[in-house]
Amino acid sequence: MKHRTVVVTGASKGIGRASSLKLASDGYDLVVTDILDLSGTVADIRKTGVTVNGVRGDISNPATIEKIGKKIDETDSKVIGLVNSAFSMASKPFLRLNDDDWDHTFNVSFFATVKLCRKVIPMMLKVGGGSIVNISSVHALAAGDVNSAAYDAAKAAMNALTRSLAMEFGPENIRVNSILPGLVTSERIIEWKREDPLGFSASESTHALRRAGTPEEIAEAVSFLISERSSFITGSSMLVDGGQMASINETAALNIVRNSALLGGRNARNHSGKRR
Ligand SMILES: NC(=O)c1ccc[n+]([C@@H]2O[C@H](COP(=O)([O-])OP(=O)(O)OC[C@H]3O[C@@H](n4cnc5c(N)ncnc54)[C@H](O)[C@@H]3O)[C@@H](O)[C@H]2O)c1
Repeated sequence: MKHRTVVVTGASKGIGRASSLKLASDGYDLVVTDILDLSGTVADIRKTGVTVNGVRGDISNPATIEKIGKKIDETDSKVIGLVNSAFSMASKPFLRLNDDDWDHTFNVSFFATVKLCRKVIPMMLKVGGGSIVNISSVHALAAGDVNSAAYDAAKAAMNALTRSLAMEFGPENIRVNSILPGLVTSERIIEWKREDPLGFSASESTHALRRAGTPEEIAEAVSFLISERSSFITGSSMLVDGGQMASINETAALNIVRNSALLGGRNARNHSGKRR
């Protein structure tokens, strides 16, 4: 009898890694992929007794998508799940974002998801269905700071893709959902906390729970959406954000003050862009 495989991108670290480990403990075989070394994730997954294959490569490179496809073909396992967690973003104010910045952000954070879905969905169709989970962000719904225009747009595109694929492939029993995390303590966020404790705690304070989440808390939602426990959920954008989107975020005022300083005093009311 064939085992069931889930593909997870961005699996070296953070939410992708935590999701891979949770799915392994759920009993799925894994194909994990990342631009960075995956040996730690692969070794930890192996301890659970499931089969795991790692594919190292840039997810925005079509050759990596081909390698992932080949790896799935090689395993005696049917692919029933895909988790798109890899991302990269150019973090600059809008007027400093050049075409390469936009291309890079969209190629890694959006088009790689498009291409991997195009590779994996035909495989899911052959085995009678599956579940795709796109790790989006609260930034798909609300603007981040002055540096996140490209990221915000890529995440909004991911949510739109989620809905379109859900509609197109629902009749074939393929469910497609997005998870929208709030602030989550992946390594890079812990690094940010070290560099900018005030910014980190200001961000935490915008959550109803007054704290950041953990990658493992996001992995719980991934596990649920991949499994049949969520069999009537598709096309959704699931907030897993500690209540960050539940409020009008008056505490975000601190961030606005900080951003204003970053822009040399230019504030939101000054549409001409003249510095004061
Ligand atoms: N951590 C948060 O606060 C937070 C909040 C909202 C949404 N998210 C989303 O969650 C997802 C995971 O974020 P994270 O915080 O775990 O980040 P992370 O940096 O810990 O993990 C991202 C992974 O993607 C990999 N990656 C980057 N560029 C790649 C490329 N070109 N090809 C292949 N792999 C590549 C990285 O090597 C890394 O392992 C992202 O989609 C992010 O937008 C995170």
